[in-house]
Formats: sequence, structure tokens, C-alpha cells
Amino acid sequence: ICNRGVPMAILVTGGAGYIGSHTVVELLAAGHEVVIVDNFSNSKPEVLNRIRQISGKDFAFYQVDVLDKDAMRQVFKENDIQAVIHFSGYKAVGESVAEPIKYYHNNVGGAIALVEVMNEFGVKHIVFSSSATVYGLNNPSPLTEDMPTHTANSPYGSTMVMKEQIFRDLAASDPDWSITILRYFNPIGAHASGRIGEDPQGIPNNLMPYITQVAVGKLPALSVFGDDYPTPDGTGVRDYIHVVDLSLGHLKALDRNLTVKGVETYNLGTGEGYSVLDLIKAFEEANGIKVNYKIVDRRPGDVATCYSDASRANQLLGWYAQRNLVDMCRDSWKWQKENPQGYDVISQA
Ligand code: UFG
Repeated sequence: ICNRGVPMAILVTGGAGYIGSHTVVELLAAGHEVVIVDNFSNSKPEVLNRIRQISGKDFAFYQVDVLDKDAMRQVFKENDIQAVIHFSGYKAVGESVAEPIKYYHNNVGGAIALVEVMNEFGVKHIVFSSSATVYGLNNPSPLTEDMPTHTANSPYGSTMVMKEQIFRDLAASDPDWSITILRYFNPIGAHASGRIGEDPQGIPNNLMPYITQVAVGKLPALSVFGDDYPTPDGTGVRDYIHVVDLSLGHLKALDRNLTVKGVETYNLGTGEGYSVLDLIKAFEEANGIKVNYKIVDRRPGDVATCYSDASRANQLLGWYAQRNLVDMCRDSWKWQKENPQGYDVISQA
């Protein structure tokens, strides 16, 4: 593949999504050329305007499904792709139980189709999204990257375990590949500008968007799923990480991916666990607003405690999460308050 004299670009699949959009902003700020591929299956075109507003920069965009290999070939033909950051995929745990084939087809099939096209074009650098869900129910926190990962407890989680295995097998078969597996803990927060953030469709599944929608008056009360877990206050403990810190972790991972061959796996978390009640309290204190909640039964499949050992990313990537729980709560609320309808309101590009 010849270099056409254009600067090499980073291809971001799912670049219109929650984590993808924040990562694109940081890539542009760091001087990278960016090509976004997104089919808007769980995102809105308006986010692209917002990315341009925040960054003052432009990027290439293709409304393409990663499973459409011909359309993806066209993207690789029209751009000089140096590496891929692969975010795209379905992510709702409950939906994956109801519609497992949809999840395996899209998430596992999408990764395979992407890698096939990358191989055709000789692009062998990929950083991709995995999840702490691969640790399953049986590993004790703090979770380290070398723990066994065959026990994911939903079809969504299984797609992550499978994708990781596919990429490890690929790296073993071809030493030219550079593959970075990033296991996210619980991303919350939003860009400090309040212009981009998480915009879930329908009633949120995850804790922070539910809290902000209660706080803004869209939902009456938060249901806290269980207060009888073996945790300090009985509610579930998670490793909440600011989405901007998570995005910056991708930039560090990309730098290393471009120079180190083989496959590497990193937790991206803060290394600290907070309970549901801790998060509610932090949100109320950071923003001076009450969050109505009630205790209900446990949600099936939830683990009591899940937090990272972040030392591998600290040591090998030189990456540390820098934003604390107050920052996360403040930024989530700013986004929600200033965008009560999410991306439904169209702004000038
Ligand atoms: N919770 C509530 N009420 C809610 C929503 C959540 O009490 O309305 C509690 C949960 O029981 C849990 C905590 O808040 O204790 C966090 O729940 P989230 O749904 O926000 O996040 P999870 O840890 O369950 O899920 C996240 C990702 C998944 C991933 C999973 C495991 O969203 O993609 O981590 O890594 F699979």
C-alpha cells in the first residue's frame, strides 16, 4: 500500500459512541488525523458536530457498518490508515441475554470482518475495547490481567471473551500484528465542556445515566439493586473511571502499540472501588442536588465487587487515572443538565 502523501490516520470504529467520541477528541488534540466509521446504531450524527466544535478540527467520517466489508475496503482505499481503535459493538448485558445471536453476529462477526479487511491492506495495528466483564463472577478484586477469563456471565461478556481469544490466536499466527486489549471498568463522566457525554437510548441500564436522569426529573427514582452484598454498605462496588481518563489511556496504548509487536492486555480502571451509595452521595455533594432512590432486589448476574489492579497500565503505559469521583459526578451532571434531550438538539457544525 503506497503512502499518497497524506498524513497517516487512525481509524476509529464506533467513533460516534460514548467512549469513541471522547477518544476522538483526545486524538485530534494530540495532532492525529482521524477517520471515524460508525453506523449510528446506538449514536447520533449530532455528536460529530460537537467533536468539531470542541476540537476546532475536522476528520473523515463514513456511515458504514463494520460488517460491510466492501464499504470498509473503500475506507481503507481512500485513507492511509496507520492503526485502528475498534470500539464498535453492542453493549447491553440484558439485551444480549434476550438476543444472543444478534450479539455474537455483530460483536464477534464485526471483529473478524474488520481484521480480514485490515489484513488485506497490511494494516496490523489494533487497539480494541474489552471489558472487566471477562473476569466473570469468580475472580476476586483487585482484578489482574493474568486471571482466568472463561467465566463471563452473559452473551455480551462471552463476545468479549471470544474476541480476546480470536486476537490472541491471530497474534500467535502472525508476529507482524500489534494488538492491544483494553479491559474497561465502569466509565462515567463526560467532557469538561459539557458538549459530549453519554446519551443512552430509552431507559438507562447503567447507574450514572440513571442517576442523572433522576436528578434532571426525567425518571422518578433510582432503584438500587440490592443492599445485602458482602460489601461495606451492602451495595455493589465498582471501579468508576472518568471517560476522559479512559480515552487518554487509549492514546497511551496506541503509542505503545505502534512500537511493540505481539498482543498485550491492560486493565483501564482507577484501582479503587466505590459502592452505589458512595456514588449517590458523591453526586449529591458534588452538585448540591438530591437523588431519590429506593432499595430493590439484586439484579441477576451482578457481581458484588469489581475493581481493577491498574498497575500494569501504570507501569507499561505510563498511564494513571487523574480525575476523581467528584470530577466524574460534576461532569456527568453538567452534560445531562446542559443536554436534557441528549443529542436530539442539532447545533451548527
Ligand atoms: N445499579 C443500580 N441501579 C441501577 C443500575 C445499576 O443499583 O439502576 C448498580 C448495579 O447493581 C451495580 C452498579 O450499580 O452494582 C453499576 O451498575 P452498571 O449497570 O452501571 O455497571 P455494571 O458494573 O453492571 O456493568 C458494567 C458495564 C457492562 C459490563 C459490566 C461488567 O456496563 O458493559 O460492567 O464489566 F459488562
